Amino acid sequence: ADAYAPVVVVLDGPAGTGKSTVSREIAARLGLSFLDTGAMYRAMTYWLLSNGVDVDDADAVALASEKPVIVSGTDASGPTITVDGQDVSGPIRGPEVTAAVSAVSAVPEVRARLVELQRDSAAAASRGMVAEGRDMGTVVFPNADLKVFLTASAETRAKRRAAQLGISEPHQVAAILADINRRDAADSGRATAPLRKADDAVEVDTSELTPEQVVVRIIELARERAGAR
Ligand code: DC
Repeated sequence: ADAYAPVVVVLDGPAGTGKSTVSREIAARLGLSFLDTGAMYRAMTYWLLSNGVDVDDADAVALASEKPVIVSGTDASGPTITVDGQDVSGPIRGPEVTAAVSAVSAVPEVRARLVELQRDSAAAASRGMVAEGRDMGTVVFPNADLKVFLTASAETRAKRRAAQLGISEPHQVAAILADINRRDAADSGRATAPLRKADDAVEVDTSELTPEQVVVRIIELARERAGAR
């Protein structure tokens, strides 16, 4: 990489690996911008649902996806996301959006549009950026300085998600696990930019690690890379 180009660190992996928490913390500690690309797919999905677009109709989604103006704030201490000027940070985490986002993110036109925004965002981050998602290392930032692929067992991920939602009932945790497995299969199995570890990504299994341990490990890797370039 160009020695003077800003550093780009990317984290990919399935839901529940601690990706968001860890990426944001790394960006904050290294003084870099932060981009949650899942939030962009969620914002697109939220707009489509709000405007009565059938998310299972890929042609309708492709056509409508040009319309919303999606803006991601990249401050690691308080990331924001707006659609047509409205703050949608809350509603994009709701169950309706979560259920529909895999279908929307499988549409190539949606991806093309959001990938462009993601690259613009990185180009505007003068000190560099930490970006997290599913295809950061494979498609969006193939020349990233450091690529990390986070994994964790499905059970661990279901427990983390349940804890986030304040759920402990075994049958409810089982339902969360089923939903995680469904979304992973959809995200990994789609034709365009499936969830996949880049060949040059470092895999970190977070099942037995605290978020702090993961952060420290990745910062160590980032420093090694920065020193080497
Ligand atoms: O990380 P998340 O759960 O907020 O992501 C929401 C969905 O968006 C996820 O099911 C897959 C999709 N996504 C994607 O296809 N590509 C990305 N770079 C980020 C997220």
